[in-house]
Amino acid sequence: MDTDLLFYDEYEQFYKMTGKSKAFENFCRDAFGEDFSQDGFSDINQINRILDFIPKRKDVHILDIGCGNGKMLGYLQEKSGAYIHGFDYSENAINVAKETFKTNAEFRQGLIGEIEYEIEKFDLITSMDSMYFAPDMKEFVKQIMKWLKKGGVLFVGYQEGDVMPKTDNVKTTVLAQAFDELEIQYDVEDITRETYDLLKKKREVALRYEKDFEEEGNKDWFELLMIQTDCVTQPFEKFTEEMARYIFTVRK
Ligand SMILES: C[S@@+](CC[C@H](N)C(=O)[O-])C[C@H]1O[C@@H](n2cnc3c(N)ncnc32)[C@H](O)[C@@H]1O
Repeated sequence: MDTDLLFYDEYEQFYKMTGKSKAFENFCRDAFGEDFSQDGFSDINQINRILDFIPKRKDVHILDIGCGNGKMLGYLQEKSGAYIHGFDYSENAINVAKETFKTNAEFRQGLIGEIEYEIEKFDLITSMDSMYFAPDMKEFVKQIMKWLKKGGVLFVGYQEGDVMPKTDNVKTTVLAQAFDELEIQYDVEDITRETYDLLKKKREVALRYEKDFEEEGNKDWFELLMIQTDCVTQPFEKFTEEMARYIFTVRK
């Protein structure tokens, strides 16, 4: 199997596991404040920031890029009454999303760069830890901006140092460069400190559920959580040499 296929198979396995694992559900709830089957860093403090960008009127449409099993969108719908739309590569995740959210909801399986939506369809487009998979960041940003209504907002949770190269300055991330080249104005919030604290919490909580993961036969996923959070066994100053995390927002 080539490395790309291995990588995608891991997501399929991940969403298969989240559908069955009580240990992972408990882990997400305790570590992130809500269980959205997170495979990343989107705790409830970050997700609640999105609520401020949902217009308070009828017929609001939200798209989530890399929506996984749709639980985060379900939460946004519960809080706002919006129509929810999501796409993700993972078939397992999209099947769960379709079964779980049936009212004013549309989920599609597809790849970033390939999937297409109507022009000016969305009031808000979110993407938590998924923009990395754009084969061409500039082209994908252009596509997103077409999908957004005038006055609509793009909200992106974006991490450097793992999938993306770490730069010395927020203005030089791959995403920031794409915005600059397209002359798109954006706001950015540096949430590296809160991400460090969140990763520490993830590690503590995972350790608390180690036995439960083991009893379920999900020890591998526990081990992965240990690998993912190994970076916070070092002091914050050292961590920042390797990692950074931002929230980018753009208003069209
Ligand atoms: C790091 S996870 C983030 C998931 C979720 N947004 C969260 O915050 O927990 C990345 C997601 O992107 C999806 N994904 C990866 N590559 C993709 C691609 N090329 N096109 C669409 N989705 C992709 C994965 O299946 C996974 O659900």
